This record gives sequence, structure tokens and C-alpha cells, in this order.
Amino acid sequence: MKHLLSIDELTTDELQELLRITPSFAEVASRRIAKVPALRGLTVATLFYEDSTRTRLSFEVAAKRLSADTLNVSVASSSVNKGESLRDTAETIEAMGIDAVVVRHASSGAPWQLTKWLDASVINAGDGWHQHPTQALLDCFTLQQELGSLEGRHIAIVGDIKHSRVARSDVSAFTRLGATVTLVAPPTLLPPATETWPVTVSHDLDSVLTDVDAVYLLRMQKERMRESLVPDLREYTALYGLTAARASKLGTKIPILHPGPMNRGVEIAADVPDLDQVVVVDQVRNGVAVRMAVLFMLLGSGNSGLPTDSLPAMAEEVPA
Ligand code: NCD
Repeated sequence: MKHLLSIDELTTDELQELLRITPSFAEVASRRIAKVPALRGLTVATLFYEDSTRTRLSFEVAAKRLSADTLNVSVASSSVNKGESLRDTAETIEAMGIDAVVVRHASSGAPWQLTKWLDASVINAGDGWHQHPTQALLDCFTLQQELGSLEGRHIAIVGDIKHSRVARSDVSAFTRLGATVTLVAPPTLLPPATETWPVTVSHDLDSVLTDVDAVYLLRMQKERMRESLVPDLREYTALYGLTAARASKLGTKIPILHPGPMNRGVEIAADVPDLDQVVVVDQVRNGVAVRMAVLFMLLGSGNSGLPTDSLPAMAEEVPA
């Protein structure tokens, strides 16, 4: 495989294989020198046209732990601000001899467009409302850590589903790993045609919470709303927010996930993120390991398939 553009482009076997090899990469982080030589000599560039804290950092840390060189094209201070097109920017990056481009863009499909212009591998780090495949991988990995397996588990995804590339990628990955998914949102925050999605839909959070194995909260993505879709944020929080009262009814064993950034006081009450069952920090930590696995799969094994055979090479530490 050369690119990772959508979670749907991974077969279920590839998805499971990536999750199976991720712990080998997580182990690297616990070493005194958290670095292996796997991608030495290769260069990974991040090209983010939308704001990001954890995803961009996570890819950068992942690439560095595999000994790749990294470049960050900061759109705010690049020629993009002078009106340079995605194509010209991409070709400039390519001319520098880059091996992989990690791209985030407000337009759905932008990463596919890049693959037509570049020889480099392209990894989608979020395109508009559409896809965010590495988020889905890290969410599956975190849920497996918490629940053992997703098979037969019931996961509620709550909040602004309509604008969420995370929800679109997660629904595909969770259901392919055997989970059932209920989307919980007001009608205005649901995408059209949810009947074609492999999910159940509910507008009643309290009743869904009585019967879940995990809760996945989403932020209100105001930057993607062209109109006001919730008349009043306080009313939204009352009906769909994970308040302290709802969290206590949930009990202490059900994991609570969120891709970040959290809006405390909106989709999650201010002190709920501090509960032990909130695994947001694990998601961030696992994100690095999963992205190492993805970079290694795309760049580290000569594109000959998944790196199971090459994994022993990982054991070698980079000399200090
Ligand atoms: C998400 C995104 O950008 O799609 N965040 C992330 O990647 N961690 C979700 C969001 O912005 O709410």
C-alpha cells in the first residue's frame, strides 16, 4: 500500500494487522532512547491547512521515533497565504525529495487530489467532513485496550456527527471490527441518509447510556457550520452533554473517549474529563504508536505489504 486516504481503503485484515503490530511501536516509546532506525534517511512532511495540535505533533513524533527527518509546512507562514495553490505547494514539497506528505485540508478529497500530483506517499490527517483514518485506528486500538475486543460491543457516538470526519471513519472501523454503533445527536447535527450507515440513531442520550460499553463524545464543530444548528448551547448541553450526573449514572467502568479538542462545559461537563474512565490521554499516546505503524507500513517495508517480517529490525536501538 502506498497511501492511507480513507479507513475504507484498508481491508478488515489490514486494519486488524495494523492494530496487532501497534504494540511493538508503543514499546519503543518506553525505551530510554525512544527511537528506532526504521525510516532513517526518509523525510516526512506535514502540510496542515486546518488548525491542529495533537494530530500534527503526533505524526511528527511518530516519524522522529522511526528516525525519519520531518518538515512542517506551516500554512500560516508559507506562500499559501500568498495564494499559492495546493498543487504548486505540493510540487514544491516534492521537489525537495519528500517521501511522505501528511495532509489536513478543509476540502473533502484534497488528499486524493495530491496523489495525482505527487510520487510521495500521502496520508490523510483529516479532509473536511470526510475522513480521518489514523484517528479511527487509534480509537480502535484504545477501545481494544479498554474492552479486550470490539466484537459484540455497543458504542455510542454522541454530538456533532454531521460535520465529523472522525465519526465517519470510526463508524466504518468500529462496525467492521464487530461493534454496534448508536449515533446520538439532535436531528440538525445528524448527516443526511444515516439509514445508509450501519448504525442505529437516537435522540435520547439518557436511554442509550443505560446500555453501552463505551461512549465517544464529539465537539460542536462550529467552524464547519454555515448556520446555527443548535438554538442554544445550554439546551444542547442539557440534552446531549455528558454532565456529571450522566457520568455518575454510567458507572466507573465504561470508557469515555473524545478525539480532542474538548470543549469543557459543552459536550462534556468541566470536571468529567478528570474521571479515571476518561481515556483521552491514552488516545493521544496511542495515536503516536498507531501513526508509527502506518508510516512503517507505507514507507518502511518497501511497500511490499505489512511489516510483520521486518518487525525484529525494530529491536535495534539507535546508538546514542
Ligand atoms: C478532530 C478533527 O480535527 O477532526 N480532532 C483531532 O484530529 N484530534 C476532531 C475535532 O476537530 O473536533
